[in-house]
Amino acid sequence: MNHSFVLKGNIIHTPRCGVLELHPNSFLVCREGRAEGIFAQLPEAFAGLPVEDFRDKLILPGLTDLHLHAGQYAYRSLGMDMELLNWLEQNAFPEESRFADLDYARRAYDIFVQALRDSATTRACVFATLHRPATLLLMELLECSGLKCFVGKVNMDRNCPDSLREQTQNSLAETRRWLEECAGFERTRPILTPRFIPTCTDELMQGLGALQREFGVPAQSHLSENLSEIDWVAKLCPSTRFYGEAYAQAGLFGGDCPTVMAHCVWSGPQERELMKQQGVFIAHCPQSNMNVSSGIAPVKSYLQEGQKVGLGSDVAGGAHLSIFRAMTDAIQCSKLRWRLVDQNTPALTMPEALYMATKGGGELFGKVGSFEPGYAFDAIVMDDSDIPTTRTCNLAERLERVVYLSNGKPHVKYVQGEKLF
Ligand code: GUN
Ligand code: FE
Repeated sequence: MNHSFVLKGNIIHTPRCGVLELHPNSFLVCREGRAEGIFAQLPEAFAGLPVEDFRDKLILPGLTDLHLHAGQYAYRSLGMDMELLNWLEQNAFPEESRFADLDYARRAYDIFVQALRDSATTRACVFATLHRPATLLLMELLECSGLKCFVGKVNMDRNCPDSLREQTQNSLAETRRWLEECAGFERTRPILTPRFIPTCTDELMQGLGALQREFGVPAQSHLSENLSEIDWVAKLCPSTRFYGEAYAQAGLFGGDCPTVMAHCVWSGPQERELMKQQGVFIAHCPQSNMNVSSGIAPVKSYLQEGQKVGLGSDVAGGAHLSIFRAMTDAIQCSKLRWRLVDQNTPALTMPEALYMATKGGGELFGKVGSFEPGYAFDAIVMDDSDIPTTRTCNLAERLERVVYLSNGKPHVKYVQGEKLF
């Protein structure tokens, strides 16, 4: 289909981190699924394209959720009175073991995919569970949703209940089979997903590194999230100087292999240096970091030092799927960090939060998350008329109100020029 058209409305995006571009009452041109430009007057060259006039509504790039667990959606908000490792054992693992049952998986993933489709998220980087059939089912449902996602079959071969522990070679064989079976999807692509170092032996990590080189797929995992986890990794991997090195030893830490590392709450200078050098994406998940008492990631410093940073809901460590919510959580956490931890580093701003939610995380998918020419046309139209106020707000203020106050559901949503609703 030829996805070429024009939208009219109040257009907002952040081509550079920290800078909000506001285009009131302007034209946004989409040609064959890609942004062509923003114009105050529609140029003659596009006069033949259909125009959809959204009048006073706000048009933003679609949001990217750089880290979440589809297999945990059913129990979001439950069992939060625990720290990470206990929370995993008592909540995450029992729920994920249910995905051996394909009927359960269908019920759970139907609910999840519907919610993600209805949200402001257009792209997501998703953990499934270790079950190959249920992971393929999730990929099928996401493919039909119109969203664009990376999805990972989880690997784990130690330190987990018997019901979830894979034999190392079986885990690798299942991963290979999954990579072969999911090759036909267009919108849904595979991403290697060793859960985290405590649940993955060196042999498994080396095998996944080899699969990465053979299939050329990206990777995702968790890094330096919680202090007990970091101590554990130091004991499990005595040859490493820092946590990230355990991924790097398997060749799964950026470079030729685009890699997303969730959290990075406690990454030290060497780890940060390597992440920068290798272009590792940091998925900042502030709500999860609060819920399972992990800490406050130094995200402003990451932006200042030029790291690649996006936002993640980390459902169900995070209870909310909304990346608008992740933006406000990120801003609020950064204020506590400034007040309580590091007075030399200011809090995050709204334009920085929008950047991370759009272009920052979108970069994992290529030219995504901005309306600059050539970027994939992912757009959401937000209607703020149902958040009444006596004030007359300018466009930047209306963005703040949408981010803090809206129910997170767009009026209209496009993914690469295709209208989902
Ligand atoms: N580390 C390993 N697995 C998980 C998980 O499911 N959630 C979070 N927040 N951290 C993890
Ligand atoms: Fe996670």
